[in-house]
This record gives sequence, C-alpha cells and structure tokens, in this order.
Amino acid sequence: MRVLSGIQPTGQIHWGNYFGAVRQYIELQKHDAALYFIADLHALTTVRNPADLRRNVTNAALDLLALGLDPEKATLYVQSDIPEVAELTWLLMTVTQMHLLEKCHAYKDKKAKGIAADAGLFTYPVLMAADILLYDSNLVPVGQDQIQHIEVTRDVAQRFNTIYEREVFVLPEPYVVQSLAKVPGLDGEKMSKSYNNTIEVFMEPKQLRKKIMSIKTDSKGVADVKAPETCSVFTLFKLFASEDQQAALAAKYRAGGMGYGEAKQTLYDQAMAVFGPAFDRRAQLAASPDTVRDVLREGAKKARVKATEVLARAREACGLGGR
Ligand code: ADP
Ligand code: TRP
Repeated sequence: MRVLSGIQPTGQIHWGNYFGAVRQYIELQKHDAALYFIADLHALTTVRNPADLRRNVTNAALDLLALGLDPEKATLYVQSDIPEVAELTWLLMTVTQMHLLEKCHAYKDKKAKGIAADAGLFTYPVLMAADILLYDSNLVPVGQDQIQHIEVTRDVAQRFNTIYEREVFVLPEPYVVQSLAKVPGLDGEKMSKSYNNTIEVFMEPKQLRKKIMSIKTDSKGVADVKAPETCSVFTLFKLFASEDQQAALAAKYRAGGMGYGEAKQTLYDQAMAVFGPAFDRRAQLAASPDTVRDVLREGAKKARVKATEVLARAREACGLGGR
C-alpha cells in the first residue's frame, strides 16, 4: 500500500488541517510506504511573493516534522524539487476533459464570485492528479473538500489507461475520516483560511487563549443548561479528548452552572496539553535549519526514483522518446 498526500504552503497549519489531514498522515506512516509533500507549485496560484513562498515552505516542513511526521518512516519532499511532475501534468492535460475541470469547486466558486480565474487555477486538479499518479499511490489521506480532486484523478488516469490500452497508472482512493472531515472554525462554519476563522496549531499561548475565548457560542448564562452537541467549543474539545474527558465536559454542559468561559478554558488547557510537546520539538527544529534542509533533500532524492520510473512508463505508453 502506497500512501501519498500534499499540503499547500499558503499559511500556518490550523486545527482543521491537523485533524482533517495531518493527523492521518502521521497515523498512516506507521503502516505503509508513505510520501508527503509541500505543494509549492499549487501555492503559486495564490502566493505571489517569493520571500513569502520560501518562508511558508520552511514553516510547513517544520510544522509537519514537529507534529510527528518521521523522516525515518515517511518521505517528505517539496513538490517543485521533482520536475517530473510538470511533465506528467502536461501528458495528463492532453487527456483531461474540460467538463471535469469546469465542475471543480475551487474554480467554480471563483467564477461564481466574478473573479477572473487563471489557467493555473483551472488546471490545478491536473497537477494534483500528476502528484498522485507519479508515485503509484493507492491511498490519499485528505479532508472532505479534496475528494472531488481525487475523483478527477481517477477519471484522468482511467482515460489515459484506456486511450493507451495499458495499465500505466494505479487508481488511487481517498482516505477520509468522516468524523474529522469538517472541523468547525471560530464562527461555527468549516474552519478555513479563506473564511478567516482558523485556530493555528502553533500560536503563542496568549494569542491562542484569546482566539479560543472568541469562539462563537449562544448567549446562555452561567446557570443555564447547555447543549454540548450544538456547541463549537465542545465539538473542538472532542478532537483532543478521551471518551471519559468528553463525557465529563458534556455532563457539565447539561447540568448548568458552567459558563462558556469555563468550557473554553478547558478546551485551551487540553489543546496546550496535546500540542505542548510539538511546540518544543518545533522550537528545536527551527534552531537547526540544516536538519530540515537535509530531510527535504533526502526526501526529494528518494521520491525522484519512483517519479522517474513512472514518468518513463507514461512517456513510453504515449510514444515519446524511444527512437
Ligand atoms: P484551507 O481550507 O484552510 O485553505 P487547505 O485547503 O490548505 O485548507 O487544506 C489542507 C488539508 O486540510 C486538506 O486535506 C483539507 O481537506 C484539510 N482541511 C482543511 N480544512 C479542514 C477542516 N475544517 N476540517 C477538516 N479538514 C480540513
Ligand atoms: N489540493 C490539496 C489541498 O489544497 C493539496 C494537494 C496538492 C494534494 N496535491 C495533492 C493533496 C495530492 C493530496 C494529494 O489541500
């Protein structure tokens, strides 16, 4: 089983990214051949400042390593360090039907808002298909919003295989943990950078507490009986807590006598307890940039072996080279 996933270096990792995707990366690295990469080519569709992009890539690597991605078990690399992916994107583009891309959310949403989309945004899913197919990936851990892209990947792979009458590409499956697929943000909507409602994993404790205190709740007073099921504070607490801890906080909601401030403090304490060790690891890693650079360089070297093999297969199938 080959596992692969990518994350865009477009900002700091938030709780939605962690619980929806990154935690699964780390879980799956134990069992399988796992490749994870920082999707800097994809980020070019939104990040247009070179210094920002470079900094974001380093930060994404630090975040992933601090959160438990282990370079002894998984391969971590930067997307643009494997130039084969660009060539494969072109080969796939020649068999990708327009209607498949026209119905993709990211493009459709922009268009609906009247924002002019560029070709990079429109063909974003083809680059993503190349990311996945280039490594014979079977399983792609992602959040719910990426399932559509994996369906496009399967369609494109299948079409290529059919046209060239051989099994050039492996068809991947998404791996989504349903209960974690839609982590709510500060306003109760899906947590997302685009909605400005995120809680970042690596935030100054003081700032983190302030953000947690700003989570939207209903206006019930301290004495009132409260419903944990419909409260974002509780939904977020569940991500971090054991069954017993969840039952204890739910009982307090239902008994009345606990204000939302206290529930938020409980959430803050729990988040600090769970992410505390990662904070320390991140600080250590940040102090040795050479280590991170070496991890990424070694990762790219390993990934490129497979990428070269699969690209050669695709080129051969469609009649490129070999004269
Ligand atoms: P954002 O929506 O903040 O821009 P990305 O699109 O960069 O996040 O997502 C990176 C990964 O994290 C993807 O696999 C995505 O599905 C997952 N993800 C993002 N937000 C959430 C969320 N609120 N709940 C669950 N998973 C999420
Ligand atoms: N599009 C993904 C996101 O925004 C990032 C990504 C790029 C990706 N290539 C990928 C995810 C390949 C999984 C597999 O989150």
